Amino acid sequence: MTLTADTSPPPAPGGRPGADGDWWRGAVVYQVYPRSFADGNGDGIGDLTGIRDRLGYLRDLGVDAVWLSPIYTSPQADGGYDVADYRTVDPCYGTVRDVELLVADAHALGLRVITDLIPNHCSDQHPWFLQALREGPGSPARARFHFRPGRGVDNELPPNDWLSLFGGPAWTRAANPDGGPGEWYLHLFTPGQPDFNWDSGAVRDEFRSIMRYWLDRGIDGFRVDVAHGLVKAPGLPDMGRPEAVPLLGGNRVPYFDQDGVHEIYRSWRTVLDEYPGGRIAVAEAWTKTLERSARYVRPDELHQAFNFKFLSAPWDATGLRELIGRSLDAMSAVDAPTTWTLSNHDVVRHASRYACGDPGRGLRRARAASLLMLALPGSAYLYQGEELGLPEVTDLPDEVRQDPSFLRKDGGNGLRDGCRVPLPWSGDQPPYGFGAADGGPSWLPQPEQWSALSVRTQTGDPGSTLELYRAALALRRQHPALGAGSSVRWLDLAPGLLAFRRDSPAGSLVCVANTTGAPVRLPRPGRLLLASEPPTGDAAEPLLPADSAGWWQAD
Ligand code: GLC
Repeated sequence: MTLTADTSPPPAPGGRPGADGDWWRGAVVYQVYPRSFADGNGDGIGDLTGIRDRLGYLRDLGVDAVWLSPIYTSPQADGGYDVADYRTVDPCYGTVRDVELLVADAHALGLRVITDLIPNHCSDQHPWFLQALREGPGSPARARFHFRPGRGVDNELPPNDWLSLFGGPAWTRAANPDGGPGEWYLHLFTPGQPDFNWDSGAVRDEFRSIMRYWLDRGIDGFRVDVAHGLVKAPGLPDMGRPEAVPLLGGNRVPYFDQDGVHEIYRSWRTVLDEYPGGRIAVAEAWTKTLERSARYVRPDELHQAFNFKFLSAPWDATGLRELIGRSLDAMSAVDAPTTWTLSNHDVVRHASRYACGDPGRGLRRARAASLLMLALPGSAYLYQGEELGLPEVTDLPDEVRQDPSFLRKDGGNGLRDGCRVPLPWSGDQPPYGFGAADGGPSWLPQPEQWSALSVRTQTGDPGSTLELYRAALALRRQHPALGAGSSVRWLDLAPGLLAFRRDSPAGSLVCVANTTGAPVRLPRPGRLLLASEPPTGDAAEPLLPADSAGWWQAD
């Protein structure tokens, strides 16, 4: 799938797609996990060349933007979320020049590109951290991190009771410059990811500079990793109940969701606003309440914050309706779009999450949930492979797993490799077009059945999940009632049905999801536009199958 000049829409003035600074309010953004998307050089690891070659696929799928998980130089202790150099690209992915070429190609196709920004921590191989180790206690270099003497008679105990999200203490004892045991440093994640000290002016300046570096290269914005973690409670107090906090939880602890983070985001907003074309930032902030999430997207802060409550919600009409309503209220109170998502590189794919032991049911519910999400007002983030209905891979052998929370055994659920298996593009044998050659390597093995789920197999099959996504995204672009917005009109149809209407002066749309295990009759929903399973019976009063959803053109 290569790009051809004659199929590309003309680049917008200034080489950017469209001039709409508010593009993000209704955007569908596709998350690329670079290691697993497409492997251009056949070494078994996805790369920027592979992504560039498949931009046409993403344009045809109908998304507005691409989010690239980290591509920076990194020892890969946590899939690149351990950055040794924020201004270079890891050789396994390519070069900065490759990023510039990718951005130019994407813009020419009308796609925007956002990259991951990892401000909570760097790699223990970052020059600042190496300098801090070298220069020892009390040095300005150490003030950019959280170094502390230990507790106990001999400093042999960690400075406080915080635990790493990946298991074990959140502190590791460093050696003094003379080689003897020295201070401890804080790492909420692996010991290879020392936390920055955001009280340091040098850290604050450095990140504004890193943002400008990438914005100058045409990047359209950032996904802010662990956006709720940068500021720690003064004095780094004990939690008093040393228990591992799950990576994806919403706990309010002394190192998450502290009020001080917002000043940082206000200063970032001024940087983003210096650039033309609507440069954005989306927060990965796991908070206790929707109202706390909304604080990250106040008008002078970031643009979007993932709605993880939606991602975590069970497949149940009553609960979903209540949650969607509260989400829209919380975000519209600060004039921000709700940012829906069902899957990403940290969670069990939604086709498996909804399965409850029955993969067929999981896929039906996933297709329905995706149609529901794409009908909701606001922006939506898709995770690569969900458009193929990929399930979580649960039988990876231990020796191939790379998720640090698995490797640290005592922490996390260690399951994140299962959603990171390389995509199947075509062909009958691994790596199914992920790399160029049949039988070539892939960094995680793909299941044998994935030939049936490949892009090539699904293309043109009207019943496939890929064609469902293509149709939904095409309709979303065309239909005046879909996309950006802040409210829906709920319809009370029948128990187990989640139904709402979206109105616009140019037309209205009704979305209905049946979260029950049985078909339900719909009274006069209008003209069917799209459904995750074909409704049956009389078109005027169709039966919406179990675990399915549909869109109707309302009168
Ligand atoms: C975020 C990332 C996750 C990573 C962690 C530490 O939660 O999404 O993949 O392990 O931060 O950077």
